[in-house]
Amino acid sequence: MVLIVHHVYFPAALKFILLITLCTLSDCYDPLDPNGNISITFDIYQRMENGYLARVTLQNYHQYRHVDTPGWKLGWTWLNNEVIWSMSGAIATDRGDCSSYSGSQMPHSCKKDPIIIDIAQDVTQNRSDHCCRSGRLSARAVDSFNSFSSFELEVRNLEEKENSLGQAPNNVTLMAPGPGYTCSPFLITDPTVSLDFGGQRQVPVLRTWKSECTYSSFLANKSPVCCVSFSTFYNPIITPCRNCSCGGCREADKNTVSCIRPGDPLRGSNDEIENNSIIECTDHMCPIRVHWHFKNNYLNHWRVKLTISNYNYNRNYSNWNVLVQHPGFNQKTTTYSFNSTKLPTLGIQDGVALLWGIDFYNSELLHSDKDRVGSVTTEILLEKDENSFTLQNGWAFPRRIYFNGENCDMPLPDTFPMLPNGSSNLRPTCIDFGLSLISLFILLLLLL
Ligand SMILES: *[C@@H]1O[C@H](CO)[C@@H](O)[C@H](O)[C@H]1NC(C)=O
Ligand SMILES: *[C@@H]1O[C@H](CO)[C@@H](O)[C@H](O)[C@H]1NC(C)=O
Ligand SMILES: *[C@@H]1O[C@H](CO)[C@@H](O)[C@H](O)[C@H]1NC(C)=O
Ligand SMILES: *[C@@H]1O[C@H](CO)[C@@H](O)[C@H](O)[C@H]1NC(C)=O
Ligand SMILES: *[C@@H]1O[C@H](CO)[C@@H](O)[C@H](O)[C@H]1NC(C)=O
Ligand SMILES: *[C@@H]1O[C@H](CO)[C@@H](O)[C@H](O)[C@H]1NC(C)=O
Ligand SMILES: *[C@@H]1O[C@H](CO)[C@@H](O)[C@H](O)[C@H]1NC(C)=O
Ligand SMILES: *[C@@H]1O[C@H](CO)[C@@H](O)[C@H](O)[C@H]1NC(C)=O
Repeated sequence: MVLIVHHVYFPAALKFILLITLCTLSDCYDPLDPNGNISITFDIYQRMENGYLARVTLQNYHQYRHVDTPGWKLGWTWLNNEVIWSMSGAIATDRGDCSSYSGSQMPHSCKKDPIIIDIAQDVTQNRSDHCCRSGRLSARAVDSFNSFSSFELEVRNLEEKENSLGQAPNNVTLMAPGPGYTCSPFLITDPTVSLDFGGQRQVPVLRTWKSECTYSSFLANKSPVCCVSFSTFYNPIITPCRNCSCGGCREADKNTVSCIRPGDPLRGSNDEIENNSIIECTDHMCPIRVHWHFKNNYLNHWRVKLTISNYNYNRNYSNWNVLVQHPGFNQKTTTYSFNSTKLPTLGIQDGVALLWGIDFYNSELLHSDKDRVGSVTTEILLEKDENSFTLQNGWAFPRRIYFNGENCDMPLPDTFPMLPNGSSNLRPTCIDFGLSLISLFILLLLLL
């Protein structure tokens, strides 16, 4: 058995390792979301005395990577002596040195490199259109309506040049909320056009500068945040997450409070608790575990139970999402307790499903406490494709899982749950949807 498993898996495993190596070498983009980025559009729509009015829009083009609280922080560096005279829909975090202004009204920010943050949803003053989401940007495939956010600003003190709109600021930076994003310089693009007179008249802005910020988990310098475990109805042995999948297994210094054992009181300084760094001690040491349980094998369908567990003691994940790549998602599927959608797959044969919580029910993945691990769970019913469905070779396990856009560590194929020797007890359960009535009927006939 072991030999067969190795024989079957070796090429796949080799490819996988090769892929990983290539990725780390070239800081690989995400093949499941090749166009994912956050774009920043700077639209100058009106000239002002020695300046202009502009609208800046952040648009999250990621299918499944969202920006959560404490929210985005956008920065840039002015090339000359520009100041932000006023702003609505966001604020600059620092007024800077405005001592050369003596008038009764002071500029909003005189900093050469302002940092701009969003304002809270419930603030009523100084709002602008499409503003004020507390710095959150939803993932596009989950909620495209809330995947962008805008703010407006008046810029003054441009260099005195006839008819000039000044130069685009440079060194664009985006924290969302942590590091990981690299932004291209602002470039002039086709001006953004809005429609007037019920769509009959096109009104381009005066100038549009655009920057695109791409994400790299390598730059974010995060250790993996999640791992995957498997179990099946045919084998009582659970394939656990790999040991130390998320790092942080430091046998040597047992004094570091990087994790606590269930039942222990919460130790550690307030800092550590506030920095969300306390997780439950496990062999994998991951904050998040995704468990795939192959639960039933029916005649025409098969059923999976998916559980996402949060091992943090002090961190809730709101609007979490999980992506699963598996050929079974090419067929019709029913997800019972999560919201779900299929994503387009470019050049990937497997189906890709994106799952997220249902509002006011399980869209918040709560933290663990001393009695229980916070978790959300659903069952998924997948239709069988007779040509591809098999219990062999670990086919029934996902190829890739992401939590909030971060790749989860998978168990190695040689640890997958093994099929029992005789396959007689693995026949699909007779009672299947649609067929169940017929089989009951036949059973009754036989009994009579
Ligand atoms: C950013 O996303 C947009 C929309 O998906 C896409 O057209 C553009 O090519 C992307 N840019 C980069 C650098 O990936
Ligand atoms: C916010 O609005 C108030 C009036 O509602 C105004 O006095 C103030 O200057 C505005 N702040 C900014 C930064 O524009
Ligand atoms: C802006 O970027 C340039 C080149 O990347 C760098 O030399 C310069 O120091 C940066 N300026 C600031 C203020 O960060
Ligand atoms: C993982 O850790 C557990 C306990 O710490 C140990 O029993 C087990 O053998 C380890 N597994 C591997 C594959 O090293
Ligand atoms: C927690 O964050 C604060 C600042 O936000 C930092 O000074 C401190 O070192 C962090 N503590 C840990 C344990 O990471
Ligand atoms: C997590 O959510 C629960 C329930 O809404 C709340 O009581 C708790 O304070 C939250 N924890 C954190 C760290 O936000
Ligand atoms: C599923 O998500 C969509 C988009 O976010 C939302 O409109 C819909 O209400 C959600 N369905 C449920 C049952 O939460
Ligand atoms: C299955 O076969 C292997 C080797 O042929 C044997 O070691 C193992 O005990 C068998 N398992 C069962 C459940 O019979």
